[in-house]
Order: sequence, then C-alpha cells, then structure tokens
Amino acid sequence: MSLRVLSRDEIFTKAPEWREPGRSKYLAMYSSVFGGVVVEPALMVIPLDDHIINRGDGIFEFFPVKNGYAYCFDAHLARLERSAEIISLDLPFDIATIKQIALETVAIAGAKDCGVRLFVSRGLGDFECDPTTPKKSLFYVIVLGMKLGDTGIPPEGVSAITTHVPIKPGFYAQVKTTCYLLNALVHLEAHRNNASFGIWYDQEGHLAEAATSCVAIVNQEKILKYPRFEHILKGTGLIRGVELAKELVKSGELKGISQTDITQHEVYESSEMLVLGSGRVIPVVKYDGRSIGSGKPGPVSRRLWELFQKDMAEGPSEVRTRIEKYIKED
Ligand SMILES: Cc1ncc(COP(=O)(O)O)c(C=O)c1O
Repeated sequence: MSLRVLSRDEIFTKAPEWREPGRSKYLAMYSSVFGGVVVEPALMVIPLDDHIINRGDGIFEFFPVKNGYAYCFDAHLARLERSAEIISLDLPFDIATIKQIALETVAIAGAKDCGVRLFVSRGLGDFECDPTTPKKSLFYVIVLGMKLGDTGIPPEGVSAITTHVPIKPGFYAQVKTTCYLLNALVHLEAHRNNASFGIWYDQEGHLAEAATSCVAIVNQEKILKYPRFEHILKGTGLIRGVELAKELVKSGELKGISQTDITQHEVYESSEMLVLGSGRVIPVVKYDGRSIGSGKPGPVSRRLWELFQKDMAEGPSEVRTRIEKYIKED
C-alpha cells in the first residue's frame, strides 16, 4: 500500500464523500475551538486530541426544537451544569452564554424543527488521561435536521428485553457523559434480540433505565410508577411527563403517581410500560417475551403522547424557549 498525502481541498469539499450525504442532516455547528459557527458539514470537525474523543472525558445534552421553540431547554442546561459539577469539569462559559450560543447556532441553522446536541469537553491535550492537562474546556453545538414526535406513538408498540450489560455506578449514571460504551452495548444486545430497548436494573433488582431513555410503568391499580433517581439519569422527559401526567390523575385516567423502587415482577405484571425521553413516549408491549397489559399500546401512553405534543406546541414559557428571538437582525 502507498498512502497518499491529501490536500486540504480534497477533504474540505462542499459535498464530501466521507460524510455519507443524506444519512444525517447536519445544519450548523458551533465550536469554541474556532470561535464561531460553520454550516458546511465538511467543516464540522473536532480535533482528535480533544479528551472528549480519546478519553470520553466530556458531557452532552440533547434537546428538540419544535416549530421554532426549544423544548425544556432550561432543564437540559441545568442538567449540563449538574453533570459538569459531578465530574469537576469547569464550563468554558457561564450558563447564560452557553444558552445564547446554542440558540444563536439554531437560529443560524434556520430550521424550525430540529434536534440540538451540546457538548462540553475537558479540552485539547496530549492524548493523556489526566484531566488537568488540557488548558481549557471546550463547547460544541451541533444542529441536526429532524422532526420530533410527528409520527405519533408506534401503533403496534415496541418490544424490550432486560439487558445483561452491567449497570453503571449510581453517581456515574447521573452524569450525561459522552462515555456511553455501556449504553451502546445495551442497544447492541437489544438489537441482537430483535428488541427496540434493553432495560437496566440496579444491584438490588430495581428498575433503572434504558440505554438512552427513562422507563416507567402503569400498574393494574392505575398508578404511574417511576424509579428513584439514585441509579439513573434524571430524564427531562420523565420529569416533564410526570408533571403532565398530573392532568391524568385529575381526570381519573390515573389513580396516582409514585416515585419508588420497582421490581422486575411489577414490570412484568404492569398494564403499561413506557419509555420516555425529551418530548417522547414509546409504549413497550412485549417485554422479555411476555405481553405487557393487553399487548397493545395503552391509554396512558397515548394520552401522555398527546400531552407532550400540546406542551411542545403551547406549553408555558418555562418549557418553550423562542428561537426567533435569537435571529440576528441585519
Ligand atoms: C441514559 C439515559 N437515561 C435517560 C435519558 C432520558 O433523558 P431525557 O428525557 O432528558 O432525554 C437519556 C437521554 O439521553 C439517557 O441517555
């Protein structure tokens, strides 16, 4: 083999082959390394010696933008701050600046419906593990063209399995770290078993979470139950979903809501099993080969999905941040 030395022009073309055009729609990226935003996918790169890559030493967030409003943005920012605090990572900017940069990047992307990922990395270094070697932490934002929630809940529901992948220690599960190898292996095991989700239990055998979502159940007494936060990521979707579900308690569709330990037996015997994320709810109808409830998506999943849609469209200002405000006037 004789390796070629490539020129800058061969790599940074307008439609680079290595980007697999059409697979992901990357609309805009902010990088604090370069101090600005790029809109050409070929320029959306980060240095290999960033500790976020070679050590997984970084944190991230994902939030949806629906019809020009960022959903639950402040909750995501609060969790970003919390993740940083747990792993002693100094944010490169104060949270108001992080918010401004993220929303301006979305405004530059110009999409009313999109997904946004924020990353804070330990910084550029020398490929060592020591987190004190980078001089400063870094911030990246990537805006992905996508529409969230428009297709409704899957009409037939989905299936899940209990995963064999070891669960993360509690403190670590509470950090939204980019080091998601165990989470990736949960997905792998699920896919190998033709399931959509793998579900973790903690060391005491209590329901924890899925690889990238929270899990809740509705029991036969119509109580919505969700796990304590000691062993899981504090899901913004779960927290907002619980808030919205209070309406279902008022209307009598639910008898109550309880944050508590949940055994695997209770999950098997539940009338509904729900997977929850930012603005989304997915009903699990088959779990470890057993039917959950009627084997069809249940009323609470359906109603919660509707409530999420309404909340994203017309919810209070605490959960909806208007992007237009961040579009610069010429
Ligand atoms: C491990 C894990 N648990 C739960 C969630 C759900 O969090 P959220 O509702 O904020 O999307 C996520 C989301 O990415 C996750 O990665």
